[in-house]
Amino acid sequence: MSTAKSLLKQHLQQRQLQGKTHIALRPGTMDRLTGAVREPALREVQKPEPMKPLAAAPAAAPLARILSEPPPAETKKAGLLEVGGSTIEEKLAALRAMAETWEPALSMASLRKTMVFAVGNPQASLMFVGEAPGAEEEKLREPFVGPAGQKLTAIIKAMGLDRPQVYISNICKFRPAMDNQGSGNRKPTPEEMRACLPFVLTEISLIAPKVIVALGATAAEGLGIPGSVGGLRGKFHSTQGIPTMVTYHPSYLLREEKMGDGIRAKRQVWEDMLKVMEKLELPISAKQRGYFQAK
Ligand code: URA
Repeated sequence: MSTAKSLLKQHLQQRQLQGKTHIALRPGTMDRLTGAVREPALREVQKPEPMKPLAAAPAAAPLARILSEPPPAETKKAGLLEVGGSTIEEKLAALRAMAETWEPALSMASLRKTMVFAVGNPQASLMFVGEAPGAEEEKLREPFVGPAGQKLTAIIKAMGLDRPQVYISNICKFRPAMDNQGSGNRKPTPEEMRACLPFVLTEISLIAPKVIVALGATAAEGLGIPGSVGGLRGKFHSTQGIPTMVTYHPSYLLREEKMGDGIRAKRQVWEDMLKVMEKLELPISAKQRGYFQAK
């Protein structure tokens, strides 16, 4: 038996002696323990998994039964990736490297192959989440650098912040492919989002911002907040327990501007951002409160 396996077995036996008869295993752990996945993957279990008793059982159960307990629903739902490193920066760097070779996304013909991760401050209190990179983002390998990105940067500035103070990411880390792509962009499909979702969820858990802003219904859906922006905006939802504001995507503001002056949409986004600023206890001047009021 490998060192990792015997350490784990010892640990479990100790827990069993302490009367802990139920534990949560991450998906895949059983495969590793039973040898379905070969040795290198065992590195993940050398660090004992966080174990939660599901319920106190009256008598000690055999180890085999403990190991076969299914993980509780929340462990499965969390869908976080384990990465090495001791600081947030190191962990984010490891996560980025993992995304570069992420088979579930790279094997999808409907996604392009250039990975665009995230940008900004790993210690940020405010995190913006968009849907997927577009042409400009793919070129520069940075989220929100095209026209929608310029709009987002203007929103951040209006809040009295600078882009490097916040963290900006996307649900999908690869640009969705199209026939005759050119500079065309499209929203990611639910399957494409699902393939990348563990990354943004892990980023959220590492950065632990005070507030998340989901830009558009697609980003909100990716974070598990389904609905239309019209119905979701204006109040806080929750992602991993973090207050999450859903607002219109900057591209929507650009479209509205093109069709008229877009003042109504701008004011709606701004009202959402004022709520975010209040939640973050940022100073708000009378001038800021009055932005984008219809004359
Ligand atoms: N739109 C997004 O949702 N993300 C980007 O990075 C750029 C445009």
